[in-house]
Amino acid sequence: MSSNEIRSEIRLSFDHRVIFSENIFSVSNPLLADVLSQTNESTVSVSLFIDGGVVQFNSSLLEKIQNYFDFYSKRIQLVSLPFVVPGGEPAKNDEKLFRELINVMHDAKLCRHSYVLAVGGGAVLDSVCFAASIVHRGIRQVRIPTTVLAQNDAGIGIKNGIDLFGKKNFLGTFYPPFAVINDCFLLLSLNDREWRNGMAEAVKVALIRDPEFFCWIEENADSLVCRDMNAMKILIRRCAELHLRHIELGGDPFERGSMRPLDFGHWAAHKLEHLSGFKIGHGHAVAVGIAIDVIYSCLKKHLSFNEAQRILSCLIRLGFDLGVAELQIAHPITGSLLLLEGLSEFREHIGGKLCITLLSGIGKPLEVDEVDTAIIVKAVHGLIKKQEKVHTSAECSSVLSVQ
Ligand SMILES: NC(=O)c1ccc[n+]([C@@H]2O[C@H](COP(=O)([O-])OP(=O)(O)OC[C@H]3O[C@@H](n4cnc5c(N)ncnc54)[C@H](O)[C@@H]3O)[C@@H](O)[C@H]2O)c1
Ligand SMILES: [Zn+2]
Repeated sequence: MSSNEIRSEIRLSFDHRVIFSENIFSVSNPLLADVLSQTNESTVSVSLFIDGGVVQFNSSLLEKIQNYFDFYSKRIQLVSLPFVVPGGEPAKNDEKLFRELINVMHDAKLCRHSYVLAVGGGAVLDSVCFAASIVHRGIRQVRIPTTVLAQNDAGIGIKNGIDLFGKKNFLGTFYPPFAVINDCFLLLSLNDREWRNGMAEAVKVALIRDPEFFCWIEENADSLVCRDMNAMKILIRRCAELHLRHIELGGDPFERGSMRPLDFGHWAAHKLEHLSGFKIGHGHAVAVGIAIDVIYSCLKKHLSFNEAQRILSCLIRLGFDLGVAELQIAHPITGSLLLLEGLSEFREHIGGKLCITLLSGIGKPLEVDEVDTAIIVKAVHGLIKKQEKVHTSAECSSVLSVQ
């Protein structure tokens, strides 16, 4: 070792819990109070941030939450008025709002023994948890995800962030939550669109990690679309297991390397969300992104025609419109598809070297460090051709036959 260097290896270990329960704001369910008061003897201070969409469609929820805190007042105390955060992507796109979140945490005199309780969809969780992760260099956060996508993906990981410079998640941190509590009752007020969107992330994680789970999704697609809660609970739980296993055993929890298997389908998804002015939700964009990368994998002969067709059919049966108009937006001078900019933005986000996950089979991810943009364009045109909606598997075949 050179004399002008002192080196030590710092090993970090985090306990990362996703807890499943029902009706968590009912006074008869002590789980939330137990989780919040676990580490402190005295009454713990809590600030609540809640998604405006959740409040809008659950008119008595704020009152119910207040009753809950009153009932358990010896152990947990709300030290600020509940802060209602506008739901959806605007929660991540508003610097003034972000400053307000910080102000609330400051005015409530939260310290590193206090808790931020974040209740909402992925966007609200991303923004509130980012704020909580930088105040006092990190306040404990308990996340209560309220969309399918947040319960099976966004809310259960260790990342957060807000958008800046028109780029998704340009600011953000890795900050493991104190706990995540998934309550399926909170999903009841979702509209069909948000119910469906979260299933794209399930297809994604199944395709790269668990072929049996993909077969299960295929078999249960109709029940899932018909909002069978038991099927949805199985789907969410399996996704959570696969995610936590990836974070724990994947070897790169803070994503220092370039490989991002869980970002399968996401280079295109992030760009599509942006091109649509966030009218296309994240989950829907991920479904389209998966379709593009599946067709590309097939055109490049990595993935069999049959498997590609099964994947497209599954996405269509789940109700996703894969031929969104935003795929066609072209640069006014060069005529090239703006979607392709998603590749360079993705490269920049992961650190300069492109690494895209494709498939060589269902459950078999394949990392590549270059893509043939002409073939990507072919794959995209395959979806555009079916813009009116790719409804049947016969139409799937025609999409895959663009070669
Ligand atoms: N941090 C991560 O690891 C990670 C992973 C995946 C996605 N994300 C992010 O998550 C965001 C998408 O999250 P999302 O799909 O949950 O959507 P969302 O947060 O954008 O919410 C969609 C809509 O649903 C409403 N809503 C939320 N819960 C509701 C409920 N129970 N009842 C009625 N309406 C409700 C919201 O108000 C909003 O209008 C994107 O910004 C994406 O980038 C983050
Ligand atoms: Zn995602």
